[in-house]
Amino acid sequence: MTLPIMKYDVVIVGGGGAGLRAALQLSEAGVKTVVLSKVFPTRSHTAAAQGGISASLGNVEPDNWHWHMYDTVKGADWLGDQDAIEFMCAQAADAVVELEHFGMPFDRLENGKIYQRPFGGHMADFGKKPVRRACAVADRTGHAMLHALYQRNVKANTHFLVEWMALDLIKNDAGDIVGVTAMEMETGEIYIIHAKAVLFATGGAGRIYQYSTNAFINTGDGIGMAMRAGLPVEDIEFWQFHPTALAGTGILITEGVRGEGGYLLNANGERFMERYAPTAKDLASRDVVSRAMQIEINEGRGCGKDKDHVMIKLDHLGRDVIEQRLPGIREISLQFLGIDPVKEPIPIVPTCHYMMGGIPTNYKGEVIDGVDEKIVSGFYAAGECACTSVHGANRLGTNSLLDLVVFGKSAGNSVIDFVKTLPEARELPANAGEEALTRVTKLRNATSGEKIADVRRDMQVCMQQHASVFRTQKMLDEGVKRILEVQKRASNLYVADKSKVFNTAIVEALEFANTIEVAVATMIAARERTESRGAHAREDYPDRDDEKWMKHSLFYSNGNRLEYKAVHTTPLTVDYIQPAKRVY
Ligand code: FUM
Repeated sequence: MTLPIMKYDVVIVGGGGAGLRAALQLSEAGVKTVVLSKVFPTRSHTAAAQGGISASLGNVEPDNWHWHMYDTVKGADWLGDQDAIEFMCAQAADAVVELEHFGMPFDRLENGKIYQRPFGGHMADFGKKPVRRACAVADRTGHAMLHALYQRNVKANTHFLVEWMALDLIKNDAGDIVGVTAMEMETGEIYIIHAKAVLFATGGAGRIYQYSTNAFINTGDGIGMAMRAGLPVEDIEFWQFHPTALAGTGILITEGVRGEGGYLLNANGERFMERYAPTAKDLASRDVVSRAMQIEINEGRGCGKDKDHVMIKLDHLGRDVIEQRLPGIREISLQFLGIDPVKEPIPIVPTCHYMMGGIPTNYKGEVIDGVDEKIVSGFYAAGECACTSVHGANRLGTNSLLDLVVFGKSAGNSVIDFVKTLPEARELPANAGEEALTRVTKLRNATSGEKIADVRRDMQVCMQQHASVFRTQKMLDEGVKRILEVQKRASNLYVADKSKVFNTAIVEALEFANTIEVAVATMIAARERTESRGAHAREDYPDRDDEKWMKHSLFYSNGNRLEYKAVHTTPLTVDYIQPAKRVY
């Protein structure tokens, strides 16, 4: 069967912050660009980002990007590539001013400048004391960013294919990327989108865990497609657990609460972060705070009848601050738990929030393969799906919104240069689309097999039990066995709904094929890394081991193989920041 073909200069997969920023760059340069998105772009997961976007504007107190770079390198526990980190931090102020000019309604100070609040791990003067670096739109910063970027794209004539799901990359015999196959959900029809270049901005995969702040759409689609095309995923063992998600729901309670002066309490009413991070306290970086919370819970100082959470107290901030700066979290807390933070503390637990690993790219957004970082022609990635390696082993809060716009724009610029070199899109291979079509047909025709809900639940429980905040060899060895069994079952899925129109069961099955790839990669890469670094905390290897492990993992699904490559230790213009003990 020949599939219908649509042709563009560039196809961007994903309509969140990174995809929209890249699309804007391309459309404004006159490049014929389509953004393909599973949901309406302003409903992308970027909308869930609450607390802010970092930039050393120094609007409230002295700050500069060198301090921001230092904090990011330290936060990443020296696994970040320092060229990419310098690139991001040095551009942060311009990126925020640009968003402001796009119409993003930042909160203001009395003097009219952009309001900034402190955030975890962001410090003044090379780690001396917390600094106000997060530029915020109350606690709805990502939502505001998405709307500003979407509107600019409409003005720039970006074409959108909404409620479309990309299925596979199309690669020619030379290994160049020449398009994607995609399904229009409304009709169930499959198309080839033929293009000079493909840019992935498909977001994260937090749905591999049982408890996650991530939207249901965060199923690692970009990672699954890249791995099926024979490409690796980098540093996938590093998953961030956000310290403060609403207990029992997984819904994010922004770190901005602690930025505004809220703090954590255990069952004894003790402000326990003072013991774990004497300088930064509740504003230490996320891995440190999550571990501290988990220790309090494990050692019996958790709150509630099951002693399974701690509390965040903010009533002392007063109704005005809460209503003005944190209206969203008040609403969430009231609606989901009937608790008004103006009057009482909120129960919270560390919850899966962010994937530090992803498709390997350089700071120009070009996808790179292997230990020698060979550029994959025609393929670009930005945002959470990409491992540009600015977050290393642990991301600082507010650096992800920054990552989206800085690297979305940078990747857009690289694509503009690349498409100029091609008069036409390179030819499609003779078998273009075959693999995707075979997968969908198999699902549509299956008369028996595993239910998606069952295998998905088993995957999520396995990840939660074997690859959470603390890990051990035994836990990971068993985890690998269990997750490989789930993967085996996942090759035999059964979808009862045989209709074509808006068949969400088929979509879920296709998503799950991606999610399980990420889960397997995570568990195997985590099992092999016998040290503790950032969010990868091994109880049996409690120290960071720079001699053996200051290197990026590259996981290939073909043979479940791992390779390792060097961390970039040459920043663009400044001196290398030497590894040091990480204390807050
Ligand atoms: O806590 C938050 O508002 C989340 C921000 C982030 O992940 O960057």
